[in-house]
Order: sequence, then structure tokens, then C-alpha cells
Amino acid sequence: MDKLIIEGGQRLAGEVAISGAKNAALPILCAALLSAEPLELANVPDLNDIGTMLKLLEQMGVKVARDGHRVTLDAGGLNNPVAPYEMVKTMRASILVLGPLTARCGEARVSLPGGCAIGARPVDQHIKGLQAMGAEVTVEHGYVHAKVAKLKGARLFTDMVTVTGTENLMMAACLADGVTVIENAAREPEVVDLAQCLTAMGARISGAGTDVIRIEGVAKLHGASHRIMPDRIETGTFLCAAAATGGEIRLTGTSTGYLDSVVDKLMDSGCDISGEKTRTSESILIRAPERLKAVSIRTAPYPAFPTDMQAQFMAINCVAEGSAVMRETIFENRFMHAVELIRLGADIKIDGNTAFVTGVHKLEGATVMATDLRASASLIIAGLVAEGETHVERIYHLDRGYEHIESKLTALGAKIKRAKA
Ligand code: EPZ
Repeated sequence: MDKLIIEGGQRLAGEVAISGAKNAALPILCAALLSAEPLELANVPDLNDIGTMLKLLEQMGVKVARDGHRVTLDAGGLNNPVAPYEMVKTMRASILVLGPLTARCGEARVSLPGGCAIGARPVDQHIKGLQAMGAEVTVEHGYVHAKVAKLKGARLFTDMVTVTGTENLMMAACLADGVTVIENAAREPEVVDLAQCLTAMGARISGAGTDVIRIEGVAKLHGASHRIMPDRIETGTFLCAAAATGGEIRLTGTSTGYLDSVVDKLMDSGCDISGEKTRTSESILIRAPERLKAVSIRTAPYPAFPTDMQAQFMAINCVAEGSAVMRETIFENRFMHAVELIRLGADIKIDGNTAFVTGVHKLEGATVMATDLRASASLIIAGLVAEGETHVERIYHLDRGYEHIESKLTALGAKIKRAKA
């Protein structure tokens, strides 16, 4: 297993290009299942999760051609609507094939994704929505079986805001008979990006980005081209890295538009952040103070502070001046990075879904263990400011969701390298 070795104390400076969004690319790859014509995608990030999803689609009969950040998928020969356990267990987002397969093939057998480090991650809302659209859905031997002659438009109300639940049901509704309305829909920008891709394929969708999405089913979808939106969580991660190190960096190919809640909190902590726009590109400039002020946050569905940024923000509160209260309202177990940060000398107390963080003057390098994707990023940020050497182990989590993060950080002046653990 690989690890990262980080020598702390470098202020980040320079420019970093932000990659395409993992959490937009994953549902959009699955959208290819809805059409017999090719879907051409640009700005697809080079991540392990993307590779896993492409393998999953290929074993269903989808032809995949990949050239750097460009991917073309052709589901004309789709002949195996099955997502097997050995592939799904490595990536929960595989559940996103359930809606498209049921809509296109009238059946699907998808392994239950099971939980992960941050929570139980049930998919009951995905199932409930497909049943409301007329599918017969059972769960047997760890697999979700869905069967239907033709999905019917329905009025769906999810019990809680669910991002992939909204995405699965929106994709399924594109080929249903009649109109589907999803109430309490997720408003995340990645849902909007998926809706834009589906619309380019001929879907009739309105309301994406609000909590009520209306989809008028059509007989079939055609091929299209689409460019994946920038990754707002990678953007936020680099903003936090610059903030923690008192750095000054420019992030290109991204904008503050998808991250107002995070930008506001970073500005409250004392950072100067400005968006830059030219005719052809957008970027963000961040200048951080010598020492940040601690800022409290509470995660919640978009447009509130994203749960995927909680771990990274905890790392900067660990070295900020003052104390902060951090409340995690989305997942039941998303503080595992806290015990690792404490190994670096952080002052954190956890009480249920609330973390009380008091900033310390310095962290000290140590060996720590990554437990999930965003926890890995949190430990790297802490390592960048800790005195001495920090070894972050089990970084296979990191490779799932960050494209070449150590080379991007090295280019910004960080002393970080990959080694065999
Ligand atoms: C998506 O996960 C993201 N993943 C997650 O990013 C992100 O943390 C999460 O949304 C919240 O923003 C992708 O988009 C691939 P949810 P998802 O369904 O859709 C409960 C990362 O780091 N729930 O919005 O699985 C669920 O347990 C990953 O990139 C049900 O109870 O999350 C959670 O408490 C981590 N039943 C809450 O809803 C359901 O059927 C929100 O989950 C569905 C969800």
C-alpha cells in the first residue's frame, strides 16, 4: 500500500488547474446507458473511481474509448444489465446504474453497495422511487432486482435530500411514460450538470438546481457531447490547503460560483478570495493571512456548507486562532479524521455529530492513517502545516477522488512524495 510523506512548513504559491468533477462524471457516465447512440464527454477526471465505473459499464456491453480527459461511451450493444458485487463493493456510486438500466432495459440486477467508513449509506429512496414509477423491486441475496415493462411518470417525494437518489430517479424518469416530478430533490451543482447532459441527449427536464425537478418522459435519447463541470470539492480542498499554509495561489478552470458557502467561511477566517473571469476561462485567487481565525460550520445539503468539505475545514480550524464548533448533519460517522488529527497535536473533542476544535500554535508531524476520501485530504492539509515529517498511510482512498494531488501540491511548493508503506 502506498503512503505520502509530507515535510511541513511550506507556504503554497503558484497556480493549480482544477480537474473535472468526480461527482458529476460518475452519474453522467451512467447516463450513457439511456441511449443507443454515443455520448462524448470532455474534462473527465483521471481517477480510480472513474476507471472502476468504466469497467462496470464495459462488462454490461458498453463500448468505451478513452483519450486522456475525453471519454466516448456507446451503449448501443448493452446486453447485460448487471452490476456484480465484486465491482460494486469497491465503489458505492455503482448504484447509479440502477435507474438507467431499469429505464432502458426494463430490468436491472445491481449489488447493494453496502456501507462505507462514513456511514450505512442505504439506498431505500432509490428503490422507493422506482417502485412508485411502477417497477417491481426486490432485494435478494444482496442484490437489488428491478423489473418493469415500462416505467410510468409519477410524483416522487424523497424522505431526505439524496444526491444520487435524485440523480438515479431523474435518469429513470427520462424514458418513462408521462411526467415525473421529484420533490425534495437535491440541488447540488452536479445534479444540474447531469440534467444539462441529459437535456443535450434529448431529455425534457426543468427545475434542476431547485428542490422540484420535472421530467417529461420521451421515447428515446440520442447521442450528445458534454463537458464535465469543474470539481468544486477539489477546488475547496486546494483553497483550504492554501489557507492553512498562509499561501497565495490561483486555481484555474473553476469558479467560486459552486462554493459560496465555503468561500464565505474562508473569508470569515481571514482569507482574501476573488473570482476572475476572462472570455474563455474562470479562476479563483486566494491570499491567506499569517494565521487564520477559527470558524464554526454546520454541514447541510447544497447550497449550505458541503459535508465533503467538513474534514478539510477541520484541518484549518486545528491551527487557527480561537475555537470552532463543527456540526456534521449528513453522515453519521464522518469524524474519523479527528482522531488522526489529534495524533498530530490537534485539540478536538467529539460529542455525537459535533466536533469542538480549539486551534493550537503548531501541529507536529506523525504517522497517520487515512480512513476515507475526504479524511485523506484533511490529513494532507494538516501535514502541510505540521512541524517535521508526516506520513499519511492508506492513501488508496485519496486516489479514488483526487487527480495527481501530490504532483499538483508539489507544483505549488509543497514537499510531498509518494512511497511504499
Ligand atoms: C453523494 O453521496 C456524494 N457522492 C457524496 O460524496 C456526498 O458526500 C453526498 O452525496 C452528500 O452530498 C456522489 O455523488 C457519488 P446522499 P450519496 O444520498 O448520494 C441518506 C465524496 O466524498 N440516504 O445525498 O450517497 C444517507 O445515508 C462522496 O465524494 C438514505 O437514508 O449521499 C445520508 O445520510 C462521499 N437513503 C443522506 O441521506 C437513501 O436512499 C445523504 O446521502 C439515500 C440516502
